Amino acid sequence: MRVLGIETTCDETAAAVVELKASGGGVILSNEIYSQTTEHAPFGGVVPELAARAHVEHLDGLIRCALAGAGLRVSDLNGVAAAAGPGLIGGVMIGLTSGKAIALAAGKPFVAVNHLEAHALTARLTDNVAFPYLLLLVSGGHTQLIAVKGVGDYVRLGTTIDDAVGEAFDKVGKLLGLPYPGGPQVERKALAGDPQRFALPRPMLGRPNADFSLSGLKTAVRLTAERAAPLTQTDVADICAGFQAAIVDVIVDRTRVALKAFRESAGAPQALVVAGGVAANDAIRRGLQRLAQSAGLKLVTPAPALCTDNGAMIAWTGVERLRLGLVDDLDFAPRPRWPLDPNAERALNGKA
Ligand code: KG4
Ligand code: ZN
Repeated sequence: MRVLGIETTCDETAAAVVELKASGGGVILSNEIYSQTTEHAPFGGVVPELAARAHVEHLDGLIRCALAGAGLRVSDLNGVAAAAGPGLIGGVMIGLTSGKAIALAAGKPFVAVNHLEAHALTARLTDNVAFPYLLLLVSGGHTQLIAVKGVGDYVRLGTTIDDAVGEAFDKVGKLLGLPYPGGPQVERKALAGDPQRFALPRPMLGRPNADFSLSGLKTAVRLTAERAAPLTQTDVADICAGFQAAIVDVIVDRTRVALKAFRESAGAPQALVVAGGVAANDAIRRGLQRLAQSAGLKLVTPAPALCTDNGAMIAWTGVERLRLGLVDDLDFAPRPRWPLDPNAERALNGKA
């Protein structure tokens, strides 16, 4: 089975072809991506209108390259999958409409993919992880702990009540004058810093539910930076190190609580999986590795290029759904909001 996947929900334009292996995992036949980061950098964040225009300009070419790279024609595909949300509506419409048009023209089944489900299932593409498993999804827009019980079967165990982890990294980077996106910059600066010099809070530590709250930590960083101003390179490094250490402690604690809730409700997890752009952070990976080890669990972290937004995860989700006979109609509407767990309450800030 071979599926074309299309991703346009945020600032990455991507198309890929993935094939299902007889053993159950997947093979990425092609994985094309155009990252718009440099276009948005001057604005310090993603500008939806700019993103939509860039998707229009680049998507057709990327799809052509993805098919050529896989050595396939549209007629060789078993289906077409496109992310239908959640995300920036202009971008979602572009990818979704393209996917539907290709499926219609070629007479192939169409799969409307939930972008979050695609992040959630990537570990099965890369590591053939069996259900159920605990997923920590940490990106610029999402911070969620999810029990992944099966395709389409998710229970949200925790989420953020204010900022996403990547968003907190980006805001700290911005207030310290580092280039956008702040996450990788803060990690780099933290390498040379003293994490103990500034005492920063660990919000929600020890709470019995697995939710996150990061705005208080961000405010503490801002006040610390204002008090220490004008900042030397050493000050910046120490603040970054202190902030990152606080984030690691919070993530490890929240994940430990989610693991407990998982065991009580969904049985023994097969693995702890981390996905999303923030999963590229080495200090966070090491913290989670310690937790996984003490819990007797395997930690699975897909390669950074598959943790951040990409087309292969959409194509793979298309494979997972198609093989269960899950096909969507061509009138499937784009969804700016689309929580994985429909029973989970909305987070306070409205982020799913
Ligand atoms: O998943 P992603 O590429 O896009 C979405 O947000 O959907 O994640 C991007 C986020 C940004 O907030 C970025 O600063 C953060 O991931 N990030 C990192 C690192 N690399 C990327 N945060 C901390 N440490 C990193 N090394
Ligand atoms: Zn994403």
